[in-house]
Amino acid sequence: MPAERTLHVSESNVDVIVFPDAAAAVRSAAERIARIVAESVAARGKAVLGLATGATPEKVYDDLAARVRAGTLSFRDVTTYNLDEYYPIQPVDPRSYRSYMQRFLFDRVDLAPNRAHVLDGTVPEAATAAHAAEFDRWIDADGGLDLQLLGIGRNGHIGFNEPSELAVEAFASQPTRVVGLHPITKTDAIREFGSLEAVIPRALTMGVRQILAARTILMLATGPHKAPIVARALKGPLTANVPASLLRTVADKVVWLVDEPAAAELG
Ligand code: GLP
Repeated sequence: MPAERTLHVSESNVDVIVFPDAAAAVRSAAERIARIVAESVAARGKAVLGLATGATPEKVYDDLAARVRAGTLSFRDVTTYNLDEYYPIQPVDPRSYRSYMQRFLFDRVDLAPNRAHVLDGTVPEAATAAHAAEFDRWIDADGGLDLQLLGIGRNGHIGFNEPSELAVEAFASQPTRVVGLHPITKTDAIREFGSLEAVIPRALTMGVRQILAARTILMLATGPHKAPIVARALKGPLTANVPASLLRTVADKVVWLVDEPAAAELG
């Protein structure tokens, strides 16, 4: 199997690390997360991670859980904040991102329950803005995110920050908040909800401000269905209409981990 290669995207002046397959990209993501945990804990006694859901990171969490079982990684000094959650939804609903995180990571590692934070899909409607603001305050009080793990939606969304007509600067400063889901996002969520009618059409999402403020951002994109949007994010215009294109504004701290099928339209 050939090793990874670095591909320079001249349109955005961004380097992308391209792996022969998804498994190699996933392994690299897990290795980098484990390293950032070790370095942050050594430097200041704790690590603060921003985590993602979706199909892409499932195997990353398998890898991290295996490291914990093997004794080479611990979440003892880790605090986590997830990107997003459907709204409204019960945490015990198997389709909630809280359930996903319990299943894939939290129940399998030594992470304290009061340091594994997922936006709460049960807060009263009138309290959503206060809850979202509180979530941002918790992250800020924790010293910000050492790492944000990201996936990319087929419409370019990061978290549930959907394509927007806002100017780039305004979009980049958006806080955590309630959003309506984009038609492409709803279509992709049929995988979890069974039918379009069953998809919960709103969500709470960490804002772009907090994502871009993370000290390291890992963007993991795998599979041929991600090739067009990866190319738009890196070769198309820098615009809130393709939320992931805003990662170019903080390019020096973003690591793009992409498999060959997802990189197919970059060359
Ligand atoms: C989901 C999540 C995002 C995720 C993206 C891609 O709806 N809200 O955080 O990164 O869409 O998901 P997948 O990895 O399943 O393609």
